[in-house]
Amino acid sequence: PTETRVQDLLSRMSLEEKAGQLVQTNLTRLMAGNGYTRGHLDPAQLSAVLGQAHVGSVLSGGGFAPVPNTPAAWAEMTNALQRYALDSTPLRIPLLYGADGVHGHNNVLGATLFPHNIGLAASFDPALTLKVAASAGAALRATGVNWNFAPDADMGLDPRWGRFYETFGEDPHLVSALVAAQVRGFQASPLTGVAATVKHFIGYGQAADGRDRAPATASEPAIDNVLLPPFQAAFQAGAASVMVNSGALNGQAVHASGDLLTGLLRRELGFGGVTISDWDDVARLKTVHQVAVSDEDAVQQAVLAGIDVMMVPTEAAAYSATVSQLVRSGKLPMSRLDEAASRVLALKFRLGLFERPFVDPAQAAARVVDRELAYQAAGASMTLLKNAAVGGLPLLPLSVRTPRVLVVGPAARDPRAQLGGWSVDWQGVPPEIEVDAVTVLAGLKAQVPRGVTLAYQDGSDLTELQQAARSADVIVSVLGEKPGAEGQADSPALALNDQDLKRVQNLRRFGKPVVTVLLAGRPLDLRTVLPASDALLMAYLPGSEGGRAVADAVWGSRNPSGRLPFRWPTRPDALPAVLGAAPNLPSLFPFGAGLSYTQFAEQDLRIDPVARTAQVTVSNTGSRAGQHVVLAYDGAGPSRQLVAVGKVRLAAGERQTVRLVWLNP
Ligand code: IFM
Repeated sequence: PTETRVQDLLSRMSLEEKAGQLVQTNLTRLMAGNGYTRGHLDPAQLSAVLGQAHVGSVLSGGGFAPVPNTPAAWAEMTNALQRYALDSTPLRIPLLYGADGVHGHNNVLGATLFPHNIGLAASFDPALTLKVAASAGAALRATGVNWNFAPDADMGLDPRWGRFYETFGEDPHLVSALVAAQVRGFQASPLTGVAATVKHFIGYGQAADGRDRAPATASEPAIDNVLLPPFQAAFQAGAASVMVNSGALNGQAVHASGDLLTGLLRRELGFGGVTISDWDDVARLKTVHQVAVSDEDAVQQAVLAGIDVMMVPTEAAAYSATVSQLVRSGKLPMSRLDEAASRVLALKFRLGLFERPFVDPAQAAARVVDRELAYQAAGASMTLLKNAAVGGLPLLPLSVRTPRVLVVGPAARDPRAQLGGWSVDWQGVPPEIEVDAVTVLAGLKAQVPRGVTLAYQDGSDLTELQQAARSADVIVSVLGEKPGAEGQADSPALALNDQDLKRVQNLRRFGKPVVTVLLAGRPLDLRTVLPASDALLMAYLPGSEGGRAVADAVWGSRNPSGRLPFRWPTRPDALPAVLGAAPNLPSLFPFGAGLSYTQFAEQDLRIDPVARTAQVTVSNTGSRAGQHVVLAYDGAGPSRQLVAVGKVRLAAGERQTVRLVWLNP
């Protein structure tokens, strides 16, 4: 059993070798040269960091990748790192290799990117979420990445927060079910999947005013009933690791909090896996939180509080030496070092890394591509929020009724607008390198119905736009958010970008019906957009196949069935879901909003909370086929709880009794 193997190995390790397992280095540290296109492994660094300091894991970050950035090159690079780690120590301990595959293998060019979590959540489909995670996990592992820093188990309560799109929205039951599904998907197979990391424990998404990493406050009941359930669900699903919140919760820097990292996480919740710090956050106990007086003090506090692995300290080798020194001087008990190192080794054994440290570069390319699944997932997320009648009929789906279609907005042909953050830089592909995705414009063009023509304008010149609009019957206005990863995307005003806003302000002057397609990872301020739109499709950040999914909804080849996994605020200063929000703040669209081109009626809902079963009879009472997402609540009024979800595809006039999927307790 793993336990015996861990104990045997540990008994043969030196203090320094154990200490190395507590530290993760950054790929940049192991590469010569600077910048994305110049990276190659540097023997001197390998020797210092992996060889002499015995550092036990590596992370990609900072826009570095192998050259060329192909799946095979990734596999070869991680193989080279493994080979070095094995050959440089007599005990032949393989490496953990970590990355943020938050919606696919966003580090490698050409990999399929799935909708970001906020869009996946709109499918209300744990089984689909699991499949997507299994595919992403297999893609990562095929290139030698075995430790994924996902899923995000933070609650999506404050859309101003730049990482809102990484969450599954605002309902703790739904978020819990989808986080658990993602954990199961990533970890579907120890040998071909990846270890999942639930992050960021705890309170990371609750920072003041939605500012990333600002101090957070949350009451005990809010922690217990809202913030913790997704983590608990992840643990039940077997999550291998937890990443710690960089910030402070209720005045405590989480990285130094024994109450949270040992009392709550280990004792109360019984978590037995690996805890990892966020990027260089142990040092920040000194520089930002100012609760440590030196680096040594910071390491001591973090490890004693319960952190097992320190992610990317500026000098990984120095941290490893500090851990050894702390043990030698009696400031850190050997038992705590053994505990942390054992957890890391156990994870390496469970992933089969001792037996199979290498991956096959020839297999990698095929595994990173799964466009059909990305298409399905994007399709299931499309959420139709408005479809007003024009000339007596709902504007969407478009048809020969409006034969001349004008598509406007740069986001319509910018792949990055639909891929979102974490695909742009950091661990993604930098802006100067072209990424591949079916854009909205390409998707629309590919299925233009007979008798319909399509034109495009970016819309930056309003006079030209006006002219083009004159000879159009309908305008499809595509709006996009500037994509951003951690720390780049906070948006206090939930505002459109200036160019989009200016264009939208002028759209009504052209006197043509307007379909708005929104590529965004959050509910933006729609006070200008909604009155200027006859129809509104929320497409979220739909990934590589987003354009096909949008086109299906616009032309009606697939009936939209997504439902909002959050309440859409009426304005940025009245956010209904943030903790402590005034009760009954109105929302522009409620949780679960989502229209279809047909109508469904639900009857005879039966919920048995004890047996944890639910069923309902659904009829398609409209005139088109479509899929209906059922949301079943226990109770009524504001305290009602979403307990089960289901999905059924029905032809016009068809009726079926559907068994629902029970969400977490
Ligand atoms: O996993 C991420 C985390 O979510 C934010 N900081 C950096 C980490 C590693 O890239």
